[in-house]
Amino acid sequence: MTDKKFKWGILGPGRIAHAFAEGLQVIDDASLFAVASSKIERAKEFADQYGGAKTYNSYEALVNDPEVDGVYIATPHRFHFENIMLCLNAGKPVLCEKPLTVNAAEAKKLIETAHEKKVFLMEALWTRFLPIYEVVRGWLDEKSIGDISLMVGNFGFNAPKEKDDRWQNPELAGGTLLDMGIYPISVSQWAMRSQPKSFMSMAHIGNTGVDELTTVLLKYENDVIAQFHSSFMSNHINDFVIYGSKGHIRIHPNFWGASKATLTVNDQELAVSRPLRASGFEYQTEEAMRCVRAGLLESPGISHADTLANMELMDAIRAEIGLKYPFEK
Ligand SMILES: NC(=O)c1ccc[n+]([C@@H]2O[C@H](COP(=O)([O-])OP(=O)(O)OC[C@H]3O[C@@H](n4cnc5c(N)ncnc54)[C@H](OP(=O)(O)O)[C@@H]3O)[C@@H](O)[C@H]2O)c1
Repeated sequence: MTDKKFKWGILGPGRIAHAFAEGLQVIDDASLFAVASSKIERAKEFADQYGGAKTYNSYEALVNDPEVDGVYIATPHRFHFENIMLCLNAGKPVLCEKPLTVNAAEAKKLIETAHEKKVFLMEALWTRFLPIYEVVRGWLDEKSIGDISLMVGNFGFNAPKEKDDRWQNPELAGGTLLDMGIYPISVSQWAMRSQPKSFMSMAHIGNTGVDELTTVLLKYENDVIAQFHSSFMSNHINDFVIYGSKGHIRIHPNFWGASKATLTVNDQELAVSRPLRASGFEYQTEEAMRCVRAGLLESPGISHADTLANMELMDAIRAEIGLKYPFEK
């Protein structure tokens, strides 16, 4: 912690931006400094809920505010590329919601720009920074479950069916893979500390043209397999289980925001809990602040290489399941 508060600005104060703002409230050396929305009333209402902040009706104005130390982007993925580019060109460090972009070509361009301009850029894959994941990392590194053979993850819920909703809308890069499938992909990549070598996928494409159910098998080195399902069609048991030669680790529902995990070896269970201080977003935010203050351009916790590999994998899966967005054609 330092004496100087890190002043955050938010672009797009919609649904998920609240989790970011709640997280900020438990970080002593950070403040919600500015909020920008296309509708100034929305920015004002949002700022008022968190004790007030400067408000802007243009994203450009916020990123050009010299007092803003970093920008959190919470718009739908379709807009991440242009929003991040705006920040990088203004020299503002960026923490952007997942997925970083809609496809790998966009992600590559942004990563190159971040390096050229020497500006920090991080995908907000908050799961990797949750305290319970440190516990799981310890178990994996100690080989408590022996050699990993299989990982199984689920992210499914009954989503709204309205076409205009972000989830169902192909113009907003809707669908389960980019929105939810990214979590089990990212957690398996994190567990293996490597990228998958091959994959197989199947999907159900719904009436609006986005994937409402996607199933993927990933094969890592030594034939370790990861299987996941992402769905808008039913409520799943949203856990993530890592199986090894001596036992297994269960990261409890919802695994992407978990505070509990259980290690089972020889039928003996060790259940561990690491309660969140607030929404759970506080840990990724602290990591972004630590990196910016240390002069880093990326977080080792979710490196540019990991983000790019995930985007390339999701491009390939989308090609296999036949999911191309209208604006990509
Ligand atoms: N980390 C997580 O757990 C988590 C959870 C949910 C979502 N997310 C991610 O967060 C991002 C935003 O999701 P959300 O559900 O919070 O979005 P949202 O509430 O639908 O929209 C957030 C903001 O984006 C802008 N926006 C929305 N629709 C737009 C449109 N059609 N055209 C232009 N701007 C539009 C608006 O900004 P203005 O106020 O400026 O108009 C809105 O306030 C997504 O990329 C999603 O993947 C992450």
